Amino acid sequence: MRCRICGAEAAVRLRYANTALCGEHFVRFFERRVERTVRKFGMIESGERVAVAVSGGKDSLAMLYALSGLAERMGFEIVGITIDLGIEGGRYSERCVEIAVENYERLGIPYKVVRLSEYGFTVDELARARLRPRVCSLCGSVKRHLLNKIAREMGASRLATGHNLDDFLQVVLQHYLFGRIEELAKFYPAIPPAPGMVSRIKPLVETPERDSMAYVLLKGIEYHGGTCPHARGATSLDLKRALNALERDHPGVKFSMFNVYIKSIYPLLSREYMSKIEDVGACEICGEPTSARICLFCRIREAMKKRLKKSN
Ligand code: AMP
Ligand code: FES
Ligand code: ZN
Ligand code: ZN
Repeated sequence: MRCRICGAEAAVRLRYANTALCGEHFVRFFERRVERTVRKFGMIESGERVAVAVSGGKDSLAMLYALSGLAERMGFEIVGITIDLGIEGGRYSERCVEIAVENYERLGIPYKVVRLSEYGFTVDELARARLRPRVCSLCGSVKRHLLNKIAREMGASRLATGHNLDDFLQVVLQHYLFGRIEELAKFYPAIPPAPGMVSRIKPLVETPERDSMAYVLLKGIEYHGGTCPHARGATSLDLKRALNALERDHPGVKFSMFNVYIKSIYPLLSREYMSKIEDVGACEICGEPTSARICLFCRIREAMKKRLKKSN
């Protein structure tokens, strides 16, 4: 196959667009698409400081590189945040943090590494405590809490995460499956700021997972390729497999699902549920935003304190 633009040998075939591109033109196409997403959803204005959440995986690193080029052109600033979750299997967290730091330094981006253990527990301990059947949802809440807090403390007005098109659709399907309609009504690629909450953006929301992989490989970016040892058997992985099976037989179906959600479903839901979305106050313990009296992070922290004291 040949590159549609220059006729050189193609490096990436894009079945959803019925085309193929060489390495150089794919990289350019990828970065332009991220820029288009950022502008389309009004994700970043010039002069802003954007905190980029980097896990060390391919998506968040692809986002970091694409945004660092865009930052110069659009006139915004980038800082990095990485959380060491304390997952030991195969030195998982340690390698994730090392790789994130190597890339921040390569790009000259100021960053902060935060260790969950500073708060008295790790994700491995959280998994062993079995507060819930699966640790992933609690881990997700812990990440959201810390990323928001640190982004705000670093003076950022936006928090960018590397969720890609597949991640986004998987969450839409998951909310649908479990009937979490109010969650769906709040689910959008760019969430405006709220008291105590930094605006959350997903610059890769129109980027299929496979393209992030091609981008990091073509650019020679070192990334952490492992999956979290706690993720095995998660529904999220099955939903992604189902989406990929659909895409294989119907190229472009992921983009059409996304567009239907953005243009038709989200506007209806958000209008219907606007008044039902709970008011956000401040946690009585840590002061972070929450709709409960005590935020979930503090409740997890308290439960872990008790468990760890008992086992010592
Ligand atoms: P995940 O929830 O693991 O699918 O990750 C989704 C996004 O959250 C990533 O693309 C990152 O932007 C962010 N993220 C996940 N884990 C971390 C971490 N340990 N430190 C910083 N950001 C993270
Ligand atoms: Fe959180 Fe795996 S990264 S449970
Ligand atoms: Zn080309
Ligand atoms: Zn709290």
